[in-house]
Amino acid sequence: MIFLGIDLGTTGVKLVALSDEGKVLFKHFEGYNLYTPKPGWSEEVPAEWWKAILKSLKAVSDFLGRNSTEVKALALSGQMHGSVFLDNNGKVIRPAILWNDTRTIKQRKEIESKIGKEELLKKVQNLPLEGFTAPKILWLKENEPENYSKLWKVILPKDYINYKLTNRICTEPTDASGTALYDVIGKKWSNEIIEKIGLHLNIFPEVVKSTEAIGKISKEVSRETGINKECLVIAGGADNVCGAVGAGVADDGQMLISIGSSGVVFLPVNNPMKRDPKGRLHFFNHVENLWYNMGVTLSAGLSLKWFRETFEKHGLAEQREDKNVYDFMLEKAKKVSLGSEGLYYLPYLNGERTPYMDAKARGIFLGFSLRHKEEHFIRSVLEGVAYSLKDSLEIAKKYGLKVKEAKIIGGGAKSELWTQIITDVLNVNIDTLMMDEGPAFGAGILAAVGSGVYSTVQEAMKTMVKTKRTFKPISGNVEEYGKRYDIYKSIYRANAAIMSKSFDIERETTK
Ligand code: XUL
Repeated sequence: MIFLGIDLGTTGVKLVALSDEGKVLFKHFEGYNLYTPKPGWSEEVPAEWWKAILKSLKAVSDFLGRNSTEVKALALSGQMHGSVFLDNNGKVIRPAILWNDTRTIKQRKEIESKIGKEELLKKVQNLPLEGFTAPKILWLKENEPENYSKLWKVILPKDYINYKLTNRICTEPTDASGTALYDVIGKKWSNEIIEKIGLHLNIFPEVVKSTEAIGKISKEVSRETGINKECLVIAGGADNVCGAVGAGVADDGQMLISIGSSGVVFLPVNNPMKRDPKGRLHFFNHVENLWYNMGVTLSAGLSLKWFRETFEKHGLAEQREDKNVYDFMLEKAKKVSLGSEGLYYLPYLNGERTPYMDAKARGIFLGFSLRHKEEHFIRSVLEGVAYSLKDSLEIAKKYGLKVKEAKIIGGGAKSELWTQIITDVLNVNIDTLMMDEGPAFGAGILAAVGSGVYSTVQEAMKTMVKTKRTFKPISGNVEEYGKRYDIYKSIYRANAAIMSKSFDIERETTK
């Protein structure tokens, strides 16, 4: 039997075909555009996602040939929080507004002041951050009333693909919880919060279990892609949850570190009381009867990508065509000693979520001298992202969460240097994985569970997930990073007001 796991990410679609033992038989990537029509905006076009999905399905069915009849089920993992607005013909009204979009500063404040932080934390266990779905719907209402008047349903990105595959509109708890309108503990939409902010329950989809089969692929999709028409579509999950499932992280005391575009510290719990009373970490639904605490640094891998695109174009890296530019950059960074000779980087390129929830924060390089070269800057980016992950872990430790075991996934985990830096900064043992295919792999596991091959996600993970190597903290490094982390933290504190003022001036001039 074969299962497909498909991650609808920020930069593109990644598909993996898995055997029921977790062997990766095939993988495929299709990119699409991310649009930033105004500062702080981040949008994608659902029709482009759909095109990439069809191409990926066609690619896997071409690869499998006659064996494609063995594809028993597929499941999607998706970028969280994005809003796809549908009219009553099921057509997309405008481009989807993504998780890293910060146009909604005003709407976030409106919700918080209307309802109060305490009440929000009681009813939906989260604050309605700019990137979450709730303020996006209010933004549409206030800024594009014509589009809002057409609104029939608002759904999450992967749920739009599920709808195109099966004609069924629904979501599941792991994605619903990222809207800030879902009662994460009671596992239902919070009608009370929805009504208080002037919205209606009927614009939200039905919620099913993440491992539930929501239908089969439609005849048209089967005809167009060659995937057999008996292929089940399993509801799937949010990308961070699928990343955790794919890494075997679904137990109290485990931690997942993920370095994709964003960086994530993910801590599952089996008791909903184990959450931050102040809401500094998100508290969302995991699979089965689990929850998780999560801190997010918005520009992790994205920081390195930005650095490469901005400064490496004419640098030495371009002259070494035999090598991946990232490998080359990371190799250069190895030459620099711990601490980057006093150079610090704050990765707040597009504001920051955890711990500051400050959409006006911006990136900072602090402390360069005549001695500093390109490689120091690269290393300081790696260290800055690691410090920002520590910010999240520190909060969790303050309210008593303990980490017994950690795993790392994502593009960043492919770098030994970066993984060792993170291990030293966080001071925990961290395992890498044999199959580091990220959220797509976890979605494949959900497909296997949803089709009944395994009875629980935990059972499937035992067979399908294998670890590779354990990174251990180097004791001298832990102390050295400890001292520098204190400086890192004080840089934001000293500059927050300046960054906010500067943000407001720029916003005035770009109006
Ligand atoms: C999590 C978040 C990001 C996206 C990335 O809250 O916003 O990790 O899910 O796709």
